[in-house]
Amino acid sequence: MTNDQRQYLSVAPMMERTDRHFRYFMRQITKRSLLYTEMVTTAAILHGDREKLLGFSPEEKPLALQVGGDNPNDLYTCAQIAEDMGYDEINLNIGCPSSRVQNGNFGACLMAQPEVVAKAVEAMQKATDLPVTVKHRIGIDDRDSYEDMREFVQVVSQTGCQRFSVHARKAWLQGLSPKENRDVPPLRYEDVYRLKQEFPNLFIEINGGIKTLEQVRDHLQFVDSVMIGRAAYDNPYLFATVDRDFYGETGEVRDRHDIIESMYPYIEYWTNRGWKLNAIARHLLQLFSGQPGTKAWKRHISEHGCRPGAGVEVIQGALAKVPQPPVLV
Ligand SMILES: Cc1cc2nc3c(=O)[nH]c(=O)nc-3n(C[C@H](O)[C@H](O)[C@H](O)COP(=O)(O)O)c2cc1C
Repeated sequence: MTNDQRQYLSVAPMMERTDRHFRYFMRQITKRSLLYTEMVTTAAILHGDREKLLGFSPEEKPLALQVGGDNPNDLYTCAQIAEDMGYDEINLNIGCPSSRVQNGNFGACLMAQPEVVAKAVEAMQKATDLPVTVKHRIGIDDRDSYEDMREFVQVVSQTGCQRFSVHARKAWLQGLSPKENRDVPPLRYEDVYRLKQEFPNLFIEINGGIKTLEQVRDHLQFVDSVMIGRAAYDNPYLFATVDRDFYGETGEVRDRHDIIESMYPYIEYWTNRGWKLNAIARHLLQLFSGQPGTKAWKRHISEHGCRPGAGVEVIQGALAKVPQPPVLV
């Protein structure tokens, strides 16, 4: 990978959050960070409304499709579809602890079955030249020692899989909801650092509880990349300086008003085609997080955004309530 293509940061896959509208919005803030879809199951890809589930705007690239599944034949076909649709990467979810996902024998429970994961990855690699990558946990239940994770990565990397995104919190498959499992048990970043030390040729990305660019910088001393989930959604402007600070881009850092204004044509496009404004607007709510005017911004969108026929004028009205940043001379 040349320095030009090197990834330092990504926005984590998040169900109900990282849909195409959120991703397009994030692209107004950072052009270089890698974006992920929500997890889409192989069954949904094979039998569902493909355009609705997988459609994206070219501006969202570089973009990885995250799939959930364990059947090599299904994953083979899904990987072909991902390539045909123009995705840049296909990522297998080995981190989701939900019981529905466990019943389908995919997600985090597959950490206990590295050979199954290796077969799945191999099938996808046969189907496509796209990078096939894995997002996994440091462990599950009682299978949570560093050695267990190392064995998992050892087996899966023998397929030629190069990129591993590691959520540094083990998954509990019983007794905790996926939401609870995002905050307990404690994070173990050292295990991810050690993984990079022992597999220096693999691209290792760290994930879990990372909220600031200072923390990103600290982690990058030990791993190749950092994946951010909730902090990206709750404070998207966190990514405003990423292209400059991590990728050496020289373009201007956009202020929040510019970012919203750059969304207007996109909002018009979709609302003119019958989409509800809120499908897009809900993702914009946190842009002014911690800033003067954030309450008025959110209130205006909440009060007016769900009215029938609501369009871009609601966002313009909301923006007018937020003070402009001072112009620096
Ligand atoms: C609402 C929500 C939905 C999530 N959905 C997915 C998903 O579809 N696939 C996945 O691999 N992880 C999913 N995750 C886990 C995140 O990708 C990430 O691993 C986790 O939130 C820890 O990172 P963070 O502390 O930066 O948020 C989800 C997390 C949240 C908060």
